Amino acid sequence: MPAKAIKTKPKPKSKPKKPDVVNKHVGGSWAYSKEVRDHFFNPRNLLWENPKEAIYDAEGVVGSPACGDVMRVWLNIDPKRDVITEFKWRTFGCASAIAATSMLSVMVTEKKGMKIDKALQIRPQDILKRLGGLPDRKIHCSVLGDKALRAAINYWFKKTGQISRIVVDGEKVIDPNTKVTEADIEEAVLEGATTLEAVQKRTKVGIGYPECIPAVEELIRFYKEKYFGRE
Ligand code: FES
Repeated sequence: MPAKAIKTKPKPKSKPKKPDVVNKHVGGSWAYSKEVRDHFFNPRNLLWENPKEAIYDAEGVVGSPACGDVMRVWLNIDPKRDVITEFKWRTFGCASAIAATSMLSVMVTEKKGMKIDKALQIRPQDILKRLGGLPDRKIHCSVLGDKALRAAINYWFKKTGQISRIVVDGEKVIDPNTKVTEADIEEAVLEGATTLEAVQKRTKVGIGYPECIPAVEELIRFYKEKYFGRE
């Protein structure tokens, strides 16, 4: 007797993920990761109002060149350990800026706080990694908290007379071998070098120091979006 063919139930098709945002003006849509939603709905270390007195050691304010939003950061610092012990913030930015800065505040203050030098090395892609990513057109929002943090650290250096430690934005060295800075990458992109290869041809960045390539790619993406909009 021939064996009966076993009928298997067809697997239910998984529903495509619904986008969180649909842009009716320029088209396109995107969904946020679980972490982004969590930090947006439950922002950590957020201040609802500016503190009335100078109860924090340092303060930094930046505006986003890409969207005009503002970010304010306040820090408390343990001078003996050179460690940031508190990171509070406030912004008028979007959901991505809120989630990214909330995550950044956690990264800086977890495990009893972060050394100032280490905090200065945090890159937008480190925040994005912890957040499970952000939509491409929202990458610049993660830069806001990072820049305000650096502004607050510079404020602290100035206040405490540590002038040689001040890091001027744009002069941040990306590749220690070639001494290529963020400003050099920005200039290259403005001059039309919009791929890694083109930027490397112009600046030699990362050729002897491949560890900096992810940072370079992130900067190219950021400046491309800033000056030329989304492709
Ligand atoms: S912070 Fe302005 S669009 Fe995200």
